[in-house]
Amino acid sequence: MNDNMAGPLAKVQRLARQVSKTFRLPVSNPAFQENLNKSRTLINSIQAQDLNFDFNLVRNTRVFNPRSNEMPPVTYVKIHEDCEISIGIFVLKDGARLPLHDHPGMHGLLKVIHGSLRARAFNEVSPALRQQLELQVQLDNSLANLVKPVFLHSDTEVDVNSDVCVLSPTVAGIHEIAARSGPAAFLDVLAPPYDIDGERDCHYFGEVFLKMDNPLAKDVCWLTEISCPSDFWCDSAPYQGPDITCALDDACGSL
Ligand SMILES: [Fe+2]
Repeated sequence: MNDNMAGPLAKVQRLARQVSKTFRLPVSNPAFQENLNKSRTLINSIQAQDLNFDFNLVRNTRVFNPRSNEMPPVTYVKIHEDCEISIGIFVLKDGARLPLHDHPGMHGLLKVIHGSLRARAFNEVSPALRQQLELQVQLDNSLANLVKPVFLHSDTEVDVNSDVCVLSPTVAGIHEIAARSGPAAFLDVLAPPYDIDGERDCHYFGEVFLKMDNPLAKDVCWLTEISCPSDFWCDSAPYQGPDITCALDDACGSL
């Protein structure tokens, strides 16, 4: 595939460079939003062909059977990862899902490049609201450590024509993504990447029902941390599109 060593950068190379520039900025920097908007525009323009996506990965249209080990529900195509950003493609079999999980302290961009997905995202309740809810008082102490109050942020069907889904440390940072009507694939950008040995390990959650009399808790959903669900695992496939490492080297190509 063309590395664009001397010419204009490919779309995904421009995206990588723009995302890297965006998330180096503190959110409080006035230039952050402008650069985030540029990242959104770039990722919205990306199609599977721009990544030289291997459509053989979505050829199997059988519905994933969680009781069978015969095929992995999810395939990950790693495009690039460094200490600032990770870029990859998640490919989901029909009926497969990325279970409810978080992105601690991370930003993310998610763009469907094939099929359609149902994405449900939650926001953590602010510490102030948590206090208002007087959780520590109303919940049994042992239970308080096991549950997390959240608000439903969005529950949407997204496809190749949809606007990019954006998550941040405070908005939509906990989500579940499922393929419901055939295999699907999405481009996933995280900044910074997960760090399983540090502060940004991935946690999985289940939903629990808790009845609280406090009216402030009316729209609150409750999650409890669980181990990785047995119906979720990944295999991997090689990336065959434009080289990203080259694009992040300022000496290479031009925007
Ligand atoms: Fe995610």
